[in-house]
Amino acid sequence: MTTLLQINASLFADASQSSRLADEFVTAWRARHADASVIVRDVGRNTVPHLDGERFGAFVTDAAARTEVQNEVVAFSDALIDELRRADVIVLGLPMYNFGIPSTLKAYFDHIARAGVTFRYTADGPEGLLKGKKAVVFATRGGRYAGTPLDTQTEFVRNFLGFVGITDVEFVYAEGLAISPDAKTAALTQAQQTIERLAA
Ligand SMILES: Cc1cc2nc3c(=O)[nH]c(=O)nc-3n(C[C@H](O)[C@H](O)[C@H](O)COP(=O)(O)O)c2cc1C
Repeated sequence: MTTLLQINASLFADASQSSRLADEFVTAWRARHADASVIVRDVGRNTVPHLDGERFGAFVTDAAARTEVQNEVVAFSDALIDELRRADVIVLGLPMYNFGIPSTLKAYFDHIARAGVTFRYTADGPEGLLKGKKAVVFATRGGRYAGTPLDTQTEFVRNFLGFVGITDVEFVYAEGLAISPDAKTAALTQAQQTIERLAA
């Protein structure tokens, strides 16, 4: 049995292009793997708080010494990490907002990067602990930036996922969505064709 974790990050809820592509991938996957189970974490609808000093302080306080509030912060982070641990395939909807990733997705990343839990430092450098997983990222943009220095997302997301051990990462782009209706249709059609190939 495969477990998929679908992470949506759009502020557009049901009208999101990246979440829709992620949905289509999950549907295509399920059509081919009847026993697949799916966990959905929507950080666009249920935003993740910024990692401030208080929240980070909870991570680095010994379990026995944590306050009730710190325990809640760690329990929230643990729940996010548990979903990742259970997942074989991570399906990430990645909108571009103001040349970067959605701030709620950054906050999610900040809550899953935990020393000794999802990565550790060794004599040879950091080692990611979330191993043996595949990630498929659906990157949607109003403009076209893939392969240019203005695409700040691809390298960052690939590096971050690699840092926690997720090194098998495939990006599917739907770009130029704001350029014209024709450009939008062409980009989404191309992404859908890639979905069929990836889910096969
Ligand atoms: C607040 C905001 C900022 C945006 N910034 C960018 C941008 O910097 N570059 C870009 O190409 N598109 C930008 N867009 C367009 C989105 O990338 C596009 O609407 C895409 O479909 C977003 O994915 P979503 O529909 O899953 O939210 C922005 C849209 C919004 C709402």
